[in-house]
Amino acid sequence: MASSHNRKHPQSYVVFASSSFEKIIITLGEIRAIVITSPEAAREITKAHDITFATRNISTTNYILSRGGRGLIFSPYGEYWRQMRKICIIELLNLKRVQSFGIIREQEINNLIRSISSLPSINEPINLKDQLDVLMNDITVRTMIGRKYSGQDVYLKELKKLTELSAGFNLIDLFPSSRTVNMLSRVPREAKRTIEAITEIMDGIIEEHMVRKASGEGDVSLLDVLLRIKEEDALQFPLTMDDIKPTISDLFAAGSETASTTVEWAMAELVRNPRVMKQAQSEVRDLLKGCTSIKNLDLVKLNYLHLVIKETLRLHPAAPLLMRQCRKTCCILGYDIPEGATVLVNAWAIDFEFLRFGSGRRMCPGMSFGLANVEPSLLYHFDWKIPNDITPAELDVSEAFGISVKRKAPLCLHAVQQGIGALCQKESSSMLAFCTIRF
Ligand code: HEM
Repeated sequence: MASSHNRKHPQSYVVFASSSFEKIIITLGEIRAIVITSPEAAREITKAHDITFATRNISTTNYILSRGGRGLIFSPYGEYWRQMRKICIIELLNLKRVQSFGIIREQEINNLIRSISSLPSINEPINLKDQLDVLMNDITVRTMIGRKYSGQDVYLKELKKLTELSAGFNLIDLFPSSRTVNMLSRVPREAKRTIEAITEIMDGIIEEHMVRKASGEGDVSLLDVLLRIKEEDALQFPLTMDDIKPTISDLFAAGSETASTTVEWAMAELVRNPRVMKQAQSEVRDLLKGCTSIKNLDLVKLNYLHLVIKETLRLHPAAPLLMRQCRKTCCILGYDIPEGATVLVNAWAIDFEFLRFGSGRRMCPGMSFGLANVEPSLLYHFDWKIPNDITPAELDVSEAFGISVKRKAPLCLHAVQQGIGALCQKESSSMLAFCTIRF
């Protein structure tokens, strides 16, 4: 990027820092990225010039994994993406649909509570991360493809691999034009193998769905909705299986881990701040006292817990870097950004702007879906203690390296069950599952 006054050097890149325009360049192999950390520049990119930055750069690995930019996350801005996005927002992730999955969340949250209750947590701390991963995976599998499958573990393992490959800084992605790297890199082969394995499993699942549909079952999962749209054949770009499979994988990859990571961070922050934990628990427990008569609507009264989640997302945004690509040379705050430049908006550094779900055309469409999973049952049923005489202030909050901000060490806590939940566990979990955070 070059200053408008210095068009001779269009390749010199600049970081928009919070106070002034410092000249810092992020160079990763052949990739030079402009990192946006000032609110003014972020506003320009995601609002004023949103359409110019409404595409994501796609690495060699992600090109393979997204089957050439199909699905939603990596499809380039244009008519195809617009169609897929519309399907997502209107058909798949609308509030009514999210609420229709309440029964699934209720059952899976009850499984989680039962699982934690059955563990001898007094002596041995519970690995809360593992428990949350299982919960979110099970909820996501059931909402996406209808029910748990025998091949589910293999599918999840391959999807985890896909996420790792997609987020990783692979040599081939850093030196895409190098013939030597292209020849030697194992990553493209690994990406092809992964996507073939996922395709094979999805083919089996889809076949089973077809049989169920033929026997008269209606829309029960997001996959069923997509299959119905495909059959109706009323779209500008007819939906094919090659669109449906990456869309399901995209929603899975974007939705499951973000939700479990956010709950894990929220719990870590709560045990680090006993005063806040006490207030959040009182709010949940007061509201749910005699819970058989409480309606779902009452959950909007969990104002304090909403603020806890909001602050958690501010401190630990699940996806802190909004990745965009400049579609057409443009001028931002007096500096030219060349066509094709990679732009990373650092949501974490832009503290007072609430960018945790992104902004503009590529903003997260799963906001209500994701937060409906962030449920407060854990606070209702259990008191939580840090193991090994570690004080709250000493709890490790180190982050792991990667594109999403996960905890470096899994959160392990003692869970002390509270009698209050025993009588009305079913009702309370069901209601808690509908807890949708408003912003
Ligand atoms: C705590 C939960 C979540 C957080 C913090 C989160 C955050 C984000 C962020 C920051 C982006 C990039 C936005 C941008 O570039 O401006 C994004 C994109 C996306 N998210 Fe989420 N997300 C969450 C949950 C979900 C869920 C549950 C789903 C779906 C089931 C989902 C689906 C997507 C998709 C498909 C995109 C790409 C949209 C596009 O490129 O058009 N997310 N998310």
